Amino acid sequence: MNSTVVDSLRHEANAKLDPQRKSALGQFMTPYKVAEFMASLFTRRDAAVLLDAGAGIGSLTLAASEVLNIHRAEAWELDPVMIAYLESNLDGLGVPYEIHEKDFVLDSVDRIQFMTGTRFTHAILNPPYKKIGAQSAHRFACRQVGLETVNLYTAFLALAILQMRQQGEIVIIIPRSFCNGPYYKPFRELMLVECAIDAIHIFASRNKAFKDDDVLQENVILKLTRGGTQGKVKLSTSRDASFADFQQRELEFDRVVNAGDREKFICIPLDDEPRDQDELFTHSLRELGVEVCTGPVVDFRLKQWWSQSPAAGTVPCIYPHHYTADGFQWPKEHKKPNALFRSPEVDKWLMREGIYVLVRRFSAKEERRRVVANLITPDDTRSEWVAFENHWNVLHVGKRGMQPEIARGLTCFLNSTPLDDYFRVFSGHTQVNATDLRNMKFPSIEKLTHMGRAWDRRLSQDAIDDLVRST
Ligand SMILES: C[S@@+](CC[C@H](N)C(=O)[O-])C[C@H]1O[C@@H](n2cnc3c(N)ncnc32)[C@H](O)[C@@H]1O
Repeated sequence: MNSTVVDSLRHEANAKLDPQRKSALGQFMTPYKVAEFMASLFTRRDAAVLLDAGAGIGSLTLAASEVLNIHRAEAWELDPVMIAYLESNLDGLGVPYEIHEKDFVLDSVDRIQFMTGTRFTHAILNPPYKKIGAQSAHRFACRQVGLETVNLYTAFLALAILQMRQQGEIVIIIPRSFCNGPYYKPFRELMLVECAIDAIHIFASRNKAFKDDDVLQENVILKLTRGGTQGKVKLSTSRDASFADFQQRELEFDRVVNAGDREKFICIPLDDEPRDQDELFTHSLRELGVEVCTGPVVDFRLKQWWSQSPAAGTVPCIYPHHYTADGFQWPKEHKKPNALFRSPEVDKWLMREGIYVLVRRFSAKEERRRVVANLITPDDTRSEWVAFENHWNVLHVGKRGMQPEIARGLTCFLNSTPLDDYFRVFSGHTQVNATDLRNMKFPSIEKLTHMGRAWDRRLSQDAIDDLVRST
């Protein structure tokens, strides 16, 4: 079947899907060009026993059949609309196949636990993307095979890995968020213990690979080999699903997963960083004597203590919206409070006045930089105690502020383009967690002090970048 035919079937099936079910089942189908690229990553091509879980209309198996000699294919799918197409597409292949009209997660847990079912030589997957609730059947089922994970796509991949034969090859397209989120750490550990990473492809521009369905995540394609020997990793990029600007290079594995990294972040360096910039990334916050926590004040839990205006008996409550292009504006007209009344419930979350660096935890997708840092000093708030709201990461020293030059240097560095580029190597999403900051490297105290002395709140982006690069 050619790609135009498969894509028109995909559109036809897509139009029949129930929109509510579509979101519940994470039904975003792979364009055939992407499916073909995925299939091309298989290296062993003979006697394939193929797994396609969350198979949709079967585009991935069809693409795999172009390069593999398939002995048997098994597909899991829940949606009857998809299954009708899947059946007719697999029929056309003329190879033995089986469609399991079952929940892949629940069924796989049984098969792994009781050591039944097929063990596969190849898997090709575009699994559903959906959060797994803490109390859901999927979460409990996964725990039975020692798997702790928060999204269906990582559950699908982990369960596929556990049903592969040794040297079995997996190609999968998934969002990049598993690469660094703290909640995905157990999954990353499982994947890295069980598999070698042979290749990573990244769609370097948002919303291009799945433009039909308006999926916003940054997607990656991984090629893994269960029990494979870890060698260099092929890293390829393309702007979109046309692969017109396809580029590929090989990286030492240590550039992808740093040997000393306990979090097992998976880094995707898009450029060969010039050597001189390495000197900017030499010290962890810990080595600099700086700590980081999430802003301790969860405002809705303290609603009865909210105050619109600062008044006697209140403390300033600082939110990201207090920082604008024009600088720090507090107090400010807003639906959120500017201050909190002191009380034992409030006091336990306060921090003593001082010089802190506040890094926003969330940025908007369209913002140029992912990491945005602000400086706060006692002059800004004029209060013995301050409440930092939960949308911040707060950089502190022993729950107190820090030396002015270091705080200013950190603010300057965190707002620089070299830092933002560095951050994007291991993070695909717009969130910046305290764990991310703990795992990042910063310049030495001397360099930060130098930056801190020259930095000014009004510096332009270019001036900040020049200062950082020339330090
Ligand atoms: C992201 S779509 C991908 C479809 C197809 N693999 C492709 O690439 O076009 C995920 C598919 O998984 C199916 N699905 C969702 N949850 C499932 C589950 N628990 N078990 C089996 N299939 C599931 C959905 O109906 C949907 O067809």
